[in-house]
Amino acid sequence: MLGQDKEIIMAVETSCDETAVAILAEGKDLLTNIVSSQIKVHQQYGGVVPEIASRKHLEQVNGLISLALKEAKLNFSQLSALAVTYGPGLVGALLVGVSTVKALAYSLKLPLLAVNHIEGHIYANWLTHKHIEFPLIGLIVSGGHTALVEMRGHGEYVLLGQTQDDAVGEAYDKVARAMGLSYPGGPLLDRLAQEGNPEAVKLPRAWLGENSYDFSFSGLKTAVLNYLNRASQKGEKVIQADLAASFQASVVEVLVEKTVRAAKQKGILSVLMAGGVSANSSLREEMQKRCGQEGLKLYYPPLEFCTDNAAMIACAAHYRYLKGEFANWSLNAVPQLRLY
Ligand code: KG4
Ligand code: ZN
Repeated sequence: MLGQDKEIIMAVETSCDETAVAILAEGKDLLTNIVSSQIKVHQQYGGVVPEIASRKHLEQVNGLISLALKEAKLNFSQLSALAVTYGPGLVGALLVGVSTVKALAYSLKLPLLAVNHIEGHIYANWLTHKHIEFPLIGLIVSGGHTALVEMRGHGEYVLLGQTQDDAVGEAYDKVARAMGLSYPGGPLLDRLAQEGNPEAVKLPRAWLGENSYDFSFSGLKTAVLNYLNRASQKGEKVIQADLAASFQASVVEVLVEKTVRAAKQKGILSVLMAGGVSANSSLREEMQKRCGQEGLKLYYPPLEFCTDNAAMIACAAHYRYLKGEFANWSLNAVPQLRLY
């Protein structure tokens, strides 16, 4: 039985299209991790519809909080703090989580922890890897963000580069859509690419200058769209697996080389990946290969913690809890919240 003196954090995540609740004890024991995905509802529109997302979160959130307590065999009085994602994300969706958790924390007289969603993705790594060495280079690759950061300690970020246009997950989803795959296209394209030839279609790599740590994926996306249009005009059949593999090779090569170059140039020995696209099979494989060649230690989360979940929010909240960094009652949703 868990005692009152144990640190037990419940976290709620509603920034996009997953309603998620998790309970984490002592920053390491995940007592429950519930993710209720709305993907099926949004699939028919080809992407997330913000208004529907908010409504679905509202329908789900209270029931999931009760279910989480039931699964963890706890009651509210045994919790030490409540955590919530307050940005970045869809404003209406974020507001559901923020208002629910604020109301609960106020009525239960529990401390409130406000978590940045991107920081949550980064901290998904600490759910399973307890001894990650600082400083480290972090590659953040999600549906809304693509960035390379240097992390010097818990909660300390220095931005090295970021995307100038599309986020990498967004590029995956847009290319997948153009190829007739359903939403979200990233995992489907990944699977398709495994059967294709990555050298079949010549596609550009956006290096953006010798020393740049920035990224750009819109040129690559346009090149794929042009390839599809030309094939359709000429009545030629596109080998989907080859196109997927060629697109993926271009994305992965740039992500891996810039990350490894940043680590080498800064003399940093640890590399960490975070966000939905870190679930990508080729990115994991190639990054592992290159880090191995360069003597770098690589961390990435298990698949279940790569995409949106509340366990990662609870884990990030744990480190804020240790530092006593609590939010106050003026906490609000911040759709464009920045981390670095
Ligand atoms: O981190 P995430 O769950 O949500 C955001 O915070 O954006 O990332 C979702 C993104 C989607 O664009 C999805 O297509 C992509 O991650 N994704 C993948 C894979 N799994 C998810 N992209 C490429 N390969 C995958 N295996
Ligand atoms: Zn996310």
